[in-house]
Amino acid sequence: MQSKVNTLNEFIIERQADFPYAKGELSRLLTHIALAAKVVNREVNRAGLVDILGSTGDINVQGETVQKLDDYANEKFAIALRGSSECCGIATEESQDIIKFDSDMAKDGKYIVCIDPLDGSSNIDVNVSIGTIFSIYRRISPRGHVAQIDDFLQEGTKQVASGYVIFGSSTMLVYTTGRGVNGFTLDPSIGEFCLSHADIQVPLSGNIYSVNEGNYKQFSSGVQKYIDHCKEVDAATNRPYSARYIGSLVADFHRNLLKGGIYMYPPTKAYKTGKIRLLYECNPMAMIIEQAGGMAVDNEGQRILDLKPNDLHQRVPLYIGSRNMIINLLDFINQND
Ligand code: AHG
Ligand code: MN
Ligand code: MN
Repeated sequence: MQSKVNTLNEFIIERQADFPYAKGELSRLLTHIALAAKVVNREVNRAGLVDILGSTGDINVQGETVQKLDDYANEKFAIALRGSSECCGIATEESQDIIKFDSDMAKDGKYIVCIDPLDGSSNIDVNVSIGTIFSIYRRISPRGHVAQIDDFLQEGTKQVASGYVIFGSSTMLVYTTGRGVNGFTLDPSIGEFCLSHADIQVPLSGNIYSVNEGNYKQFSSGVQKYIDHCKEVDAATNRPYSARYIGSLVADFHRNLLKGGIYMYPPTKAYKTGKIRLLYECNPMAMIIEQAGGMAVDNEGQRILDLKPNDLHQRVPLYIGSRNMIINLLDFINQND
């Protein structure tokens, strides 16, 4: 039956009925995230007009330059999550340690959130799509107390929801609670995210490969041979795969999710275990891709969602996208590495 519901808030509430014992806490948390996304969106759109572009001059815990918009997004999401009363703490890419919310309401919160507030920071100044990635877990420490580090070091399989916001030619929020993936486009005239991409499925195969090929010589032989294979003329399409790499995971992932493709970030000399962060980037995207029928694995072909994190800022090799393309890549890795 065609549903008449089309705003994100209505959709979230309607979907709550899928979880018979749900008390609306997750729904409220998602609603707060969506609100923060709108606030950040407003600032992203004004980025060229106000003095917010560029670097703060600080270096973050990852050893990278902090952009002003990183700070802004980090602060806005932290405020929204602190105020939601459903969340007892967050881990953000921009802070060394977890942030514990200590109000009585927050201490009673059932969830924790891991967040990459601004993904693709190097693209801010050049008007290329950027995003926000989030991941929600049920805490394992008792309610009524502040959050503990173990609440955050859970396998990706324990995520109760994950999603991302892409600030692109339009602004979209895509999320899953483990029952499919749905995408909502912000209608700026009414300030609402409206359902635009229901039940997204990633094509089984695609013809796009996304990797920073400047690092090619540092890749393992298996990954190199797979990339060489991507450049061969494909019998089905009579052309090679297309190389598409923006340098914002959110944007590269979103395009490949809709069109079919593979995104790779193998180990390099500078990033010995790959560059992409397990908690803030790999796990949330892995949950989404699996819910959309795709796959996400590391260098050994292990499912990303099964990896047990041992550090908040851990980075792992990431291969994510259309199922048949990942399986093909793993054949090359198994035969050559
Ligand atoms: P962030 O901006 O949050 O630090 O993430 C950047 C990540 C990811 O979004 C992107 O795919 C990758 O770094 C790009 O790295 P390279 O510039 O090394 O290709
Ligand atoms: Mn990122
Ligand atoms: Mn970031």
